Amino acid sequence: MLKIQGGNALRGSVQVSGAKNAALPIMAACLAVPGKTVLHNLPELRDIASMSDLLGQLGMSVTRTGTGQLILEPTRSRESVADYDLVRKMRASVCVLGPLLASRGEAFVSLPGGCNIGHRPIDLHLKGLAALGAEIEIRNGYVIAQATKLTGTRIFLGGAMGSTVTGTCNILSAAALATGRTIIESAACEPEVVDLGNFLIACGAKIEGLGTPCITIDGVEQLQPVEYEIIPDRIEAATWLIATAATRGDVTIENVIPEHLSAFLDKLTQLGVLCQINSNSIRVSGVTEIQAGDIVALAYPGIPTDIQAQLTAMLCLAKGMSVVTDRVFPERFMYASELVRMGAKIRREANSVIIQGVNRLNGASVMASDLRASAALVIAGLAAEGETTIRRIYHLDRGYEKLADKLTALGADVQRLQDRQSPPTGSSIPGPHWQQAGIGEPK
Ligand code: EPZ
Repeated sequence: MLKIQGGNALRGSVQVSGAKNAALPIMAACLAVPGKTVLHNLPELRDIASMSDLLGQLGMSVTRTGTGQLILEPTRSRESVADYDLVRKMRASVCVLGPLLASRGEAFVSLPGGCNIGHRPIDLHLKGLAALGAEIEIRNGYVIAQATKLTGTRIFLGGAMGSTVTGTCNILSAAALATGRTIIESAACEPEVVDLGNFLIACGAKIEGLGTPCITIDGVEQLQPVEYEIIPDRIEAATWLIATAATRGDVTIENVIPEHLSAFLDKLTQLGVLCQINSNSIRVSGVTEIQAGDIVALAYPGIPTDIQAQLTAMLCLAKGMSVVTDRVFPERFMYASELVRMGAKIRREANSVIIQGVNRLNGASVMASDLRASAALVIAGLAAEGETTIRRIYHLDRGYEKLADKLTALGADVQRLQDRQSPPTGSSIPGPHWQQAGIGEPK
C-alpha cells in the first residue's frame, strides 16, 4: 500500500529508467540469438523479473550482472511452453511466440486472459505468423504454433483498432530469420518497436522502415549476440511531467528522448504547462493554472494510451471541461470511479470521460486496477489535500522502478506500507512439461 500526504510540490530532478515495453520484446528476441547477449539499462521491475522467469522456463540462461544489466544465452533446452500462470500475470509473455518459432520451429503459449484495460486479442499476431508459414492451432487455451520453416511474405497487420505493438514485435522477430523478404504493412511505429528492430539489426538482421507503417525485413541465416542499451521509458517520463504540473512543482526529468513525446509535449503546451526541452532532459516549472482541453489517445505518434489516465488525473484540477478519449483501449477508464472518490467530477461516455475541473481533490482510500491507472491515482494523491492510501500497488511495481523512492527524493510525503492485498500469485510454474500445462503432446 502507498500512503501519500498530498499538497507537496515536487522539486528537484529525476532519472528516467529503461523502457519496460522495449526491454520485454528485446529479452524475448534473445531466444533467437545464439551466444551471450548483454542488455543494459533494464528497469528493475516485476515484469522484467517475470520475463526472466519465463525465459528460464524456456531454456534460456538469464544472469543479472549488475544494476540494469542482464546476460541472456539460449541453452540446448527445447522446452517451448509459456504457461497460463505466467502469461496471465504478464501479457507481454506473448512476445516469445515469434522468437520461439524462428529459433525452434514450435511454440506453446497460453492465450492471455482478461485484462483491466479492455479486450486484448492476439488475432493479428497469429495472422502474421500464419502468413509466414506457421501452423497455428488453439487448444485448451493455448496457442500451438509449429513451422518447419518460415518464408517471407507481405503481411497487412492492421486491425479494427489500428496497428499492434507486440504483434509487430512478434512478426519482426520471426521474419528476421525467415527465408526471403517480409513486408509488414500497417506496422506499429512506437519507439519500443523501433528499439526491438534496432536490436535485431545490431544482431545482424536486415530491416528497413522502422518507425514507419511499412517495414521490410530480409531474413538472414543466423543472428549474432551483441551488447545493447534499452531506450529510456517515455511513459515514465510523461508520468513525471504530469505529476510535476499537477503539484505545481519544478522538476527536471533526466534521460529522456523528447522526440518520443512530441504529441504529448504539444498537448501539455495547449494545457498551459510550459516545458523547457533540452536534448535529453525536460523541465517543468512555474505552472500556475492548468487549462482544460481534449485528449485523444492514439497509436504512435499520437498521445499514448499509456498516459491517458495520468492526464485525466491532472485535468481533474484544470479550469473548465475536458474530454479524454481512448481510441486504442476504449474501456481503459476503470480508474475514473476511484478519482470520483477523491472529489473529481468525471462522467463516462462510451470510449471517453468528461471531466469538470474542480478546485481541489480530497485524499481517500483507493484501489489500483492496472499499471497506468495506479500512476493516475498517485498523481491525484500528490495533488489532493489530505491523506490518500492506494492499495494493490503491485500494479505499480510492474512498470515504475523505485517509484516511492523517486517521489520521496522529489519532496513528496509518501510511505510504502505492507499491502493486505498481495499480488495474484501464479502456482509455482510447473516443470517445463507441456502435459502439465494441460495441452496434448505436440505431433
Ligand atoms: C502494448 O500492448 C503495450 N504493452 C501496452 O502497454 C500499450 O498500452 C499498447 O501496446 C498500446 O500502445 C507492451 O508493449 C508490453 P496493441 P499490446 O497490440 O501490444 C488491438 C503498459 O501499460 N489488437 O498495440 O498488447 C488491441 O485490442 C501496457 O505498459 C487486436 O485487435 O497492444 C488494442 O485495441 C498496457 N488484435 C489495439 O489493437 C491483436 O492481435 C492496440 O493493441 C492485437 C491487438
